[in-house]
Amino acid sequence: MPAGRTPSAFYRPLAIGAPQPLRDQPARLERMIHFVPPQVEKLRAKVPDLIARVDVVLGNLEDAIPADQKEAARDGFIAMARDNDFGATGLWTRINCLNSPWALDDVLEIVAAVGDKLDVVMLPKVEGAWDIHYLDQLLAQLEARHGVSRPIGIHAILETAEGVNNVEDIAAASPRMHGMSLGPADLAASRGMKTTRVGGGHPDYAVLADASGDDENAPRTAYQQDLWHYTTARMVDACAANGIKAFYGPFGDFADPAACEAQFRNAFLQGCHGAWSLHPSQIDIAKRVFSPDVEEVRFAARILEAMPDGTGAVMIDGKMQDDATWKQAKVIVDLARMVADKDPELAQAYGL
Ligand code: GLV
Ligand code: MG
Repeated sequence: MPAGRTPSAFYRPLAIGAPQPLRDQPARLERMIHFVPPQVEKLRAKVPDLIARVDVVLGNLEDAIPADQKEAARDGFIAMARDNDFGATGLWTRINCLNSPWALDDVLEIVAAVGDKLDVVMLPKVEGAWDIHYLDQLLAQLEARHGVSRPIGIHAILETAEGVNNVEDIAAASPRMHGMSLGPADLAASRGMKTTRVGGGHPDYAVLADASGDDENAPRTAYQQDLWHYTTARMVDACAANGIKAFYGPFGDFADPAACEAQFRNAFLQGCHGAWSLHPSQIDIAKRVFSPDVEEVRFAARILEAMPDGTGAVMIDGKMQDDATWKQAKVIVDLARMVADKDPELAQAYGL
C-alpha cells in the first residue's frame, strides 16, 4: 500500500461525484497501442479503419508533435474521439508532460469534451508517485464536474532514471493505474546511455565468448545482449505485483521489422502485454508477437484438461506438470481466449 493512504481510503473517490475507483483493471486485449498524430487530417480520416485493425488507438500530443501544433493536436484528438465509435477498441491519449505549458489544458479540455469516451491517459516522464497523485486528483475533480461515469485510467511511461528508481511506488500509486510502458528513447537520454536508437539492441552491447585454444588472435563470437532486459524486468515485477499491465514502448527503426519483432518478443516472453506501434507495419508485428503461439496454446490447453482442479502432478509428452505449470498454462489460455474473441481465424487455430 502506498505511504500516506490507509487501505480503506485507497479506493475512495478523490472528489465528490467522481466514479468509484476500480478494484481490478478490466481484462482487455491490448497487444498494440497505435500512435496517431491527431493534428493531421489525412491520418484522422483513417481512424475508422484503424479501429477495426488495432486494439488501442492513441492520439499523441507529446513528443513528435511540433510545439506550434500542440493545440491543433489536442483539438484533432477531441474531433477524432467525437467522430468515431470505438466499440471494444481502446481510446487513449498521450498528454504532454506535467511541467510543460500544455499538460493542464490537455487534461481540462479533453475530459470536458470526451471524458466519457476516453479509456486511458498516458502520462510521460513520470518520476515518482507524486506525478500520479496529481493527475489522479485532477481527473477525479474533472470526472465529477463533467459527469464522467467510468474512471479514466492512468498509464505511466517509465522513461527517466528517477522513474525507474521509483517504479514500485508508481505502480502502487493509485487504483487508477492501468499499467506502464518502457520509454527507451527518453530513458537512454536520462541515464546517459550512449545510443541514439529508439529502442532495440546495440551491436556493441555484447559479451565475448572465451578465447579457445592457443591462438589468442583467433576470432571470438560476440553475443549481443538486450539493453532493456533489466528495466523491463523491474517494470514487469512492479506491474504484476500490483495487478496492472506492463508494455514495451517504441521501436524506431521502421526499416528493420525483424529487430522490432525480436524486441517485442523478448518483452512478451518477460511478461509484457503489448507494445507501441508507431508505423502501420508494426501493427501486424505486434499482433503476431502478443497473440500466443498456436502450438503453445494447444499444449497449455492439454495441461488444463489433464489437471481439472489445478493440483497434483501429471506427465504430458515426457514433461512434468504441476500446480505452477497449470498457472502458466492458464495465463496462456486466458490470453488466447481474449484473442479468439477478436480474431476468428486464430480462434479456430487455437481450437477454442
Ligand atoms: C518514449 O516516449 C520514449 O521516450 O522512448
Ligand atoms: Mg519519451
